[in-house]
Amino acid sequence: MDLQKLETTAKAMVAPEKGILAMDESSPTCAKRFQAVGVADTIENRAAYRTLLIGTPGLGQYISGAILYDETIRQTSTEGGLSFPDLMRRQDIIIGIKVDAGAKDMAGHPGEKITEGLDRLRERLAEYVELGARFSKWRAVITIGQGLPSRACIEANAHALARYAMLCQEAGLVPIVEPEVLIDGDHTIERCYEVTLETQRCVFEQLYRQGVAFSGMVLKPSMVISGKSCPQRAPVEAVAEQTIRCVRNTVPVAVPGMAFLSGGQSEEEATAHLNAMNVMAEAMHLPWRLTFSYARALQHSALARWKGDAANVEAARSILLHRARLNSLASAGRYQQAMEQEAA
Ligand code: 13P
Repeated sequence: MDLQKLETTAKAMVAPEKGILAMDESSPTCAKRFQAVGVADTIENRAAYRTLLIGTPGLGQYISGAILYDETIRQTSTEGGLSFPDLMRRQDIIIGIKVDAGAKDMAGHPGEKITEGLDRLRERLAEYVELGARFSKWRAVITIGQGLPSRACIEANAHALARYAMLCQEAGLVPIVEPEVLIDGDHTIERCYEVTLETQRCVFEQLYRQGVAFSGMVLKPSMVISGKSCPQRAPVEAVAEQTIRCVRNTVPVAVPGMAFLSGGQSEEEATAHLNAMNVMAEAMHLPWRLTFSYARALQHSALARWKGDAANVEAARSILLHRARLNSLASAGRYQQAMEQEAA
């Protein structure tokens, strides 16, 4: 394992004032997002939309890396005939790739999911390295509900995450390890804390057992947050406090940073939460970079503005760049301050 190379890439992924753009929606998820704004789900539209995202002038100032889907890493963008990997190199954005095969119903565990994709993963990773990838992503999902999650679901997913991570490091790719505790449900923030703590503990235990180098990975955690339909949702400060309390109790100091997912939060919420965490992290001298790896919270308004119309590309790009800039500020704890200055 070339640890030095992994560490260099991992550090660049969480570089100061930068975060990651997740644009690795699987084809069914992309179809859902397109449908919501009336865009036909065609291969051409997917290429056009992803070119809109990654080709945004100046994006590399705020975005360190972007996560692609298998189709995209092999595709030609609609800009200058460049392949997506070449367009990303031009933008100085590191190439990442989603390598899991999706979360499937877990046998014997109704309501729970296990992420698939380990078969032939070594061969697939070698191919992605050839295509230019330097990091990868695997997402596990944990559901909070009546009697859920089960310990079996947490353990099976943690084991798979560690197997994936070890294969990636062997192949020279930095693994993004993503155990997402879903926001769906009416659970309290306290319940989310318990589940996230147990999940992250179990994940790091497996990463350790299987020999994953903590300094050559990036954690992509969900925030500790009230369920979407919880009657009393905890305020921004509480989300920041509980999320930090949780990672301080689970994440080894050697991990260079965390890039949070947005998980269905609004764009503004996701930015405010990241900012509040960084304000606290600075006061506490925490050892990690805390940044973003958002999909919906970066793309939502830009996609809605685009609507599949080439005439809207420029406007959509300026919306994306704006969100990327605000999240970049939040990753340095300077979002609130910048908003106040702009309002003055
Ligand atoms: P969201 O930010 O929309 O949760 O997506 C992040 C991601 O990559 C999920 O795997």
